[in-house]
Amino acid sequence: MKVLFIGDVIGRPGRLFLKSLLSGIVHNRSIDFVIANGENAAGGFGITEKTANELFAMGVQVITTGNHVWDKKETVQYLFSENKILRPLNFPPDVPGFGSIVFNLKNGLKVGVINLIGRVFMNLSDCPFRAVIPEIEKIKKITNIIIVDMHAEATSEKQALSYYLDGKVSAVVGTHTHVQTSDEKILPYGTAYITDVGMVGPMVSVIGVQVEQIVRKFLNQIPQKYDVAKGSCFFCGVVIDIDNQTGKATGIERLLVNE
Ligand code: FE2
Repeated sequence: MKVLFIGDVIGRPGRLFLKSLLSGIVHNRSIDFVIANGENAAGGFGITEKTANELFAMGVQVITTGNHVWDKKETVQYLFSENKILRPLNFPPDVPGFGSIVFNLKNGLKVGVINLIGRVFMNLSDCPFRAVIPEIEKIKKITNIIIVDMHAEATSEKQALSYYLDGKVSAVVGTHTHVQTSDEKILPYGTAYITDVGMVGPMVSVIGVQVEQIVRKFLNQIPQKYDVAKGSCFFCGVVIDIDNQTGKATGIERLLVNE
């Protein structure tokens, strides 16, 4: 099967550009399953029911998130009931929402998706390395096809997790930095990996935000409101080929499309 994993969708510009491309990519590449990181889909920070429904309507089947998941306060309540939007599994155990899902495709295949968050240069959370193993064991009873979104800042933490999970999951896809890395590969025991899949959002921006605002913040350190940048967008994603029986990845291709 083929899985398309789409990088952080940034605000309205990201949503609109994704909408213009997604059905074409899914059709041309015979994609079976679409995952997107959507933690910045609503105004550049957080996700709402409305923006999530927009992503679902254009063909995204599961949405992953990260440190921005609670930025819109209505999301706290919403995630009690919406299991197709994940929040990191290694958040405190009593927070709302789900850290993983087994998604049933129309063709009968089942795909597990697990959302993790890193701890290096990020807010404190439980250990993603220790949290993920019991979750994998649980999902393996249902399917061998498992995709992990490792939402993290540090390359080393993402790489270490990928080798730790090599052979246990189909893919470890890094998100959060919004900058696509060119290190996509299949690890020795059959797990596909990329350090960061990138984003769908404005090209002239600092990870999606207006350049002037971020430069000013670095210059004077005064907190201020951030807005999503305007202008042409790019789309970043990866297509992962997976053996339906073993769950091992047989290929990973990086996508970068300019508007
Ligand atoms: Fe993030």
